[in-house]
Amino acid sequence: MTTQTICILGGTGFVGRHLAARLAKDGHRLKVLTRHRERHRDLLVLPRLILAEADAHDAKVLAAELDGCDAAVNLIGILNERGRDGRGFYQAHVELPRKLAQACRETGVRRVLHMSALNADAAYGRSHYLRTKGEGENIMHAAHDLRVTSFRPSIIFGVGDSFFNRFARLLKVTPYWFPLAAAGARLQPVHVGDVVEAFARVLAREGTVGKRLELCGPKVYSLEELVEYTAATLGLRRSVLALGDGMSRLQARLLEHLPGKPFSWDNYLTLQQDSVCHTGFPEELDITPAAVEDIVPGYLTR
Ligand SMILES: NC(=O)c1ccc[n+]([C@@H]2O[C@H](COP(=O)([O-])OP(=O)(O)OC[C@H]3O[C@@H](n4cnc5c(N)ncnc54)[C@H](OP(=O)(O)O)[C@@H]3O)[C@@H](O)[C@H]2O)c1
Repeated sequence: MTTQTICILGGTGFVGRHLAARLAKDGHRLKVLTRHRERHRDLLVLPRLILAEADAHDAKVLAAELDGCDAAVNLIGILNERGRDGRGFYQAHVELPRKLAQACRETGVRRVLHMSALNADAAYGRSHYLRTKGEGENIMHAAHDLRVTSFRPSIIFGVGDSFFNRFARLLKVTPYWFPLAAAGARLQPVHVGDVVEAFARVLAREGTVGKRLELCGPKVYSLEELVEYTAATLGLRRSVLALGDGMSRLQARLLEHLPGKPFSWDNYLTLQQDSVCHTGFPEELDITPAAVEDIVPGYLTR
């Protein structure tokens, strides 16, 4: 395999850390861009990794960082924004991909791996999150002079995730009844190990250029089933109280005013659409995706 110099945007987050470790194994040279270098110095234990403090929203800075790289990976994304007007989503999911495409063009970086999300759809996405993710994905694929592959995962789980770990934290501080909004939403969680393996294989193969790959695990669950599973895995006696639609809306409206927005109106809208793949794991990647039950107990109970 040819080793490459790969610039990773958003490489300090949950997926990014797993991806950096996976790509380092293949001998690639990595440049991870971050807004806060000091917070992520632990990444420097990986061989051939440069951690660069850079504002990826600054077109000139972005081009300077990309200069000399063979490929770019964009993982920047947010699940909630500070305000409520969609501006934060637009900046992170639409403006940034546009600047990235332009910077890649200027610097001759032709190969781009772009992280989108299942159900991302510029026109019909239910939430700001899904519409802006869809627009960003379209911008990347419209850049015909670039060789783009995008990834559309359902919810991603694994060490450091913000799904099972967050519910685990909430369940631990809940006395018995656990009120759950959008409990009937259907999800098909995919293991972060399979997601980063997909990125690594796609980098090594040209056959996926232009494709938008949906990534899901082997099984579909309701949100309620996943929360019940989390409680059972932790050995907690909790009863999930599935909220009706009116109460789910109310919970979203209330919780989005709490610090850290544990749940927001936009999250509620995202959950109105099942996050389930249309087909199995992309055949060309030759990956058998791992099941929740084989992985989650290993890190939740640690
Ligand atoms: N996790 C999931 O279940 C899931 C599911 C579907 C799709 N995705 C997509 O996968 C990607 C990675 O997700 P993740 O869970 O790894 O996210 P994450 O842990 O929040 O990491 C995202 C990284 O992006 C950077 N970032 C965040 N907001 C930014 C902004 N406004 N401007 C510049 N940089 C920003 C941050 O790096 P610094 O703070 O170091 O700058 C952060 O470490 C995202 O695009 C997300 O939408 C995730």
